[in-house]
Amino acid sequence: MTALLKKACVIGDPIAHSLSPVIHGFWISQYGVNAAYERAHVAVREFPGFISALRANGYVGANVTVPHKETAYRLVDRLDETAKGISAVNTLWFDGDVLAGANSDVAGFLGNLDEGSPGWDEGVQIATVIGAGGAARAVIKALDNRNVPEIRITNRTEGRARQLLADLRIDAEIIQWEKIQTAVERADLIVNTTTLGMAGHTALELDLSAAVSTALVTDIVYTPLKTPLLEAAERTGLRTVDGLGMLLHQAVLGFTHWFGLTPQVTPALRTAVLTALREKAV
Ligand code: ATR
Repeated sequence: MTALLKKACVIGDPIAHSLSPVIHGFWISQYGVNAAYERAHVAVREFPGFISALRANGYVGANVTVPHKETAYRLVDRLDETAKGISAVNTLWFDGDVLAGANSDVAGFLGNLDEGSPGWDEGVQIATVIGAGGAARAVIKALDNRNVPEIRITNRTEGRARQLLADLRIDAEIIQWEKIQTAVERADLIVNTTTLGMAGHTALELDLSAAVSTALVTDIVYTPLKTPLLEAAERTGLRTVDGLGMLLHQAVLGFTHWFGLTPQVTPALRTAVLTALREKAV
């Protein structure tokens, strides 16, 4: 008897740009799972109804992307620890009759650094996070999970950084945006979570020479793969990890819950996603 086809999807508006179908499609073929992963274009007003009918429509779970992550956070029956304080859910699955929700960006960020720079968290004393949006919430939660002793945050809109720390109940130093350069001093991990440096956006201009000489610099942006910040880090002789791995690693959680096996992030997967990115850019 063949196993029943298991179906999951990524829900968003817009959704055509999502790379999640490339990632899950790659794993479905690689592992020979009897599964399908679809794109679901769902407008804001239709989202609650789509979630209520998720199971009836044959889905074992879903990824949730812009603009539904905060609504998904409010709609799930049970929140995973990772989603608390982040106020955003990007992965849904059923646990019996319970709709469970998690934020896999925390695991995605850590998985990327663990792979790209093994042991990175052992010596880190000061981590500087640039930005205070949704991605910054996941990054700061991740750093706190790994017990980084000192976290600094700087954001153009300072009130957002304050709110982020209050929601996450994490003690960190807020540095004024105008003084961003001082946030680099003695840092041994620097993370950009803003859209600065993304293709078509202004670059994030930082002099990284005041960081620790063995510092690690990473960027959430992966278009381009080598952002101006990562280029500057290389020129300064610092270590770098690009942002694509976070996208790949954050997908592991959903696949594991829906289809019952933990997929690996491999160079072949990275190549497949890079190819899709290049095709989309044409
Ligand atoms: P995400 O969920 O991907 O983190 P977001 O919530 O829109 O996206 O956050 C984008 C981040 O990039 C924010 O930190 C934003 O700063 P503000 O909170 O001040 O808006 C930052 N950002 C975007 N454009 C920027 C710019 N031109 N200069 C400085 N920061 C910028």
